[in-house]
Amino acid sequence: MILAPLRGVTVRAFRRAFADAIREAGFSEAFTPFVPAAEGCDPLKDRELRDTAGEPVALTPQFIGKSPSALARCLEKIKDAGFETADLNCGCSFPMVRKKGRGSGLLRTPDLLRRMLDAGCSAMGDGKFSIKTRLGVERPDELLALLPLIDTYPLRFIAVHARTAVQMYDGECDSRALAEIEKASKTPIVENGDLDWRDRKGMVGRSFIRSLGERDDIGELLGRYAEICAAELCGERLVVGRLKELLAYWKDLPRWRRVWPFAKRLNSLSELLLAVAPSRR
Ligand SMILES: Cc1cc2nc3c(=O)[nH]c(=O)nc-3n(C[C@H](O)[C@H](O)[C@H](O)COP(=O)(O)O)c2cc1C
Repeated sequence: MILAPLRGVTVRAFRRAFADAIREAGFSEAFTPFVPAAEGCDPLKDRELRDTAGEPVALTPQFIGKSPSALARCLEKIKDAGFETADLNCGCSFPMVRKKGRGSGLLRTPDLLRRMLDAGCSAMGDGKFSIKTRLGVERPDELLALLPLIDTYPLRFIAVHARTAVQMYDGECDSRALAEIEKASKTPIVENGDLDWRDRKGMVGRSFIRSLGERDDIGELLGRYAEICAAELCGERLVVGRLKELLAYWKDLPRWRRVWPFAKRLNSLSELLLAVAPSRR
C-alpha cells in the first residue's frame, strides 16, 4: 500500500511526526507531494527531498511539469542522490494547473506526454518511473484511449484516481471505467480514490488521514508535528496553517465536532495546541 501524495498534508514533517502510524497502517511506500520540474529548479533543494533521514517508508519523489528536458535533469539529480523511483503527476485537477498543460492537462497533449514518458523512462530506467493520473479530463475514457501510447513505455505502474479531473473530488469513483483500464492495460495499474486504508491495498490518502483523528495519542502526535513544522517553516502562521489542514479532515468525527469550530479560528500555535490537547476534549 502506497501513501498518496497530499500537498500540504503528507509533507516531509508529517511523514516524520506520524512515522509509526504510517508503518503500523501497512504502508510500504510514500509519494512526495508534487515537486516542480521546471528549468532552473533543483529538486534536491526542495524541502521534500533535501534530507531523507527519518523517512518511515521508501520514498518516491513526484514531479509536476511539462518540460521533458527539465524533468530529465531533475530525475538525473535525484537518481544520483540515491532515489530509485520517481513519478510524474498527470492527474492534478486544479484548473490553473490543468489549463496550463501540467498535471491532468498532459492527458490532452499526447505528443508532449510521450516526450515526458521518454524522458522519465530514459532517466530512471525500466520499471522505475510511474505516472499518477485520472480517468480523463472530462470523460472517463480518455486514459483508456491513451493506453496504446502509454503501454509502449516500461513504466513501473500507472496509479489511477478513478475520477475525471473536472470531477475534482465530487461524486463517486467510477469503478467500471477503472476495471476497463485494468483489463486493457499492459502496464500494472495501482488503484486510487476513496480506498479504505484497512484493506491495505492500492494507493491511499484521505481515509488514512481521517483515521489519525481517532487515535488516543493524537494530541501528542500533533505536538510533535508542530515542532517539526516550526523547525522548517518561517513563522507561526504557517505552522498553524499546516495543523489546521490536518484538523479539517477530522471535523466530522465525534470527538472533534466541538473542537474544530473553535480551533479553526485560532491563530496562535500555543492556543491551538491547547485546544487540541486531549484534556480539553
Ligand atoms: C489536499 C490534497 C492534496 C493533493 N496533492 C496531490 C499531489 O501533490 N500529487 C498528486 O498526485 N495528487 C495529489 N492529490 C490527490 C491524492 O493523491 C489522491 O489521488 C486523492 O486524494 C484520492 O485518493 P484518496 O481518496 O485515497 O485520498 C491531493 C489531494 C488532496 C485532497
